[in-house]
Amino acid sequence: MDPYAKLLIENKAWAKEKVMDDPDFFNRLVNIQHPEFLWIGCSDSRVPANEITGTAPGEIFVHRNIANMVVHTDLNLLSVLQYAVEVLKVKHIIVCGHYGCGGVKAAMTRHNFGIINKWLRNIKDVYRIHRVEIDSQPSEDDKTDKLIELNVVEQVHNLVKTSIVQQAWKTRQGPDIHGWVYRLSDGIIKPVLEMPYGSGIDNLYAFDDLV
Ligand code: CO
Repeated sequence: MDPYAKLLIENKAWAKEKVMDDPDFFNRLVNIQHPEFLWIGCSDSRVPANEITGTAPGEIFVHRNIANMVVHTDLNLLSVLQYAVEVLKVKHIIVCGHYGCGGVKAAMTRHNFGIINKWLRNIKDVYRIHRVEIDSQPSEDDKTDKLIELNVVEQVHNLVKTSIVQQAWKTRQGPDIHGWVYRLSDGIIKPVLEMPYGSGIDNLYAFDDLV
């Protein structure tokens, strides 16, 4: 069978199974979504947010891009963030990177990838900021792993630099922000940074005229 056609057949089977297990499953989700989590992850097909966290449809609001970046000029990310924080009022934002990330590996090369260069430039900036720590790692693999972890840390900080998160922290008790790295080889998530709501904000980035 054509693999594409198989997707639609699997979909019908999945929908049928859901209703058999729980006749009200789709009715509950039709009119309302109340996810507690916003997930900012890598587009990598091996890191599906719901599957690796054992969550169901309706539980996680998801944004994915190459190397789980929070780029301040990315209208897509900013729109997702604003909606998740201000309308859905998520309690947690998770930035989840993963070891073996192709985007991070590509950013560590000097290869010209065309338009992707512009995206990878943001990862190269993270490398530059943490160059001494990354270059002091014993092997190339360790350097890559370190950049992957520090990239997650940097993206968590990028979230805190937004007026969206700062405004929320000023007006309600959330969201807490979590930096995670997923390991492809065993499926385990390693937390690398916690920034609960109200965490200190670098003075350079803190807005003092939020209402
Ligand atoms: Co990746």
